[in-house]
Amino acid sequence: MKIIVEKNYEEMSKRAALEMVNIINEKPNCVLGLATGSTPEGLYKELIKLNKEGKVDFSKATTINLDEYVGLSGEHSQSYRYFMNDRLFNHINVDKSRTFVPNGLAENIELECKNYDERIAKLGGIDIQLLGIGNNGHIGFNEPADYLSMDTHLTDLAKSTIEANSRFFDNIDEVPKKAITMGLGGIMRARKILLIASGASKAEIIAKIAEGKITTQVPASILQVHHDVTIIVDEEAGALIRK
Ligand code: GLP
Repeated sequence: MKIIVEKNYEEMSKRAALEMVNIINEKPNCVLGLATGSTPEGLYKELIKLNKEGKVDFSKATTINLDEYVGLSGEHSQSYRYFMNDRLFNHINVDKSRTFVPNGLAENIELECKNYDERIAKLGGIDIQLLGIGNNGHIGFNEPADYLSMDTHLTDLAKSTIEANSRFFDNIDEVPKKAITMGLGGIMRARKILLIASGASKAEIIAKIAEGKITTQVPASILQVHHDVTIIVDEEAGALIRK
């Protein structure tokens, strides 16, 4: 794992944007695995800026997102489809028909999951997968558990995740209890992984995933066995890394 510590959130975002831009410029028809959450917002702002300045072109790229809440339509302001349109896709020259987010309203969720994995395979796999990190070590919505799933699947959200994400909803009862998430297989098959984290609240989990034991109770710890992972943190999130 390569760990890069930047001074603050802004520098972390800029550095992460640069990593992504390098991939897109090298391979214009690349497949970008994208993530939601508050952490990548700065990175997306930077990508919009670089796109407007003509320094990166998304016209041939395809994007595939990690996850979506079950029961929310793409028009719901807290759905991840809405988030991606609002924070990135509406502001860059990507072809919207090549931006993929699981359908949280799919009638047949099992089929939706199967099709999602087939889509990734048909696209030739993910060139770079961006990840945030949940306080409990989840990536996408792969929550701590005795067993982890390889494939895209329906999952129950952990109580701590529902609590953490309730800040975006009017009240905690409105937070969906289930989500569709890419599995660990989909994430680990990405050719390159870029994980970003910021703030003191992420310091403990970052130290655990970078230096702790590999365990299904900390899903992101599995990233230690991937051959090309870069973790970019700000000083606060990197504060408990020993090496
Ligand atoms: C959500 C998402 C994750 C994200 C995590 C952390 O639950 N499913 O993909 O990494 O929360 O979010 P934040 O960046 O807001 O801390």
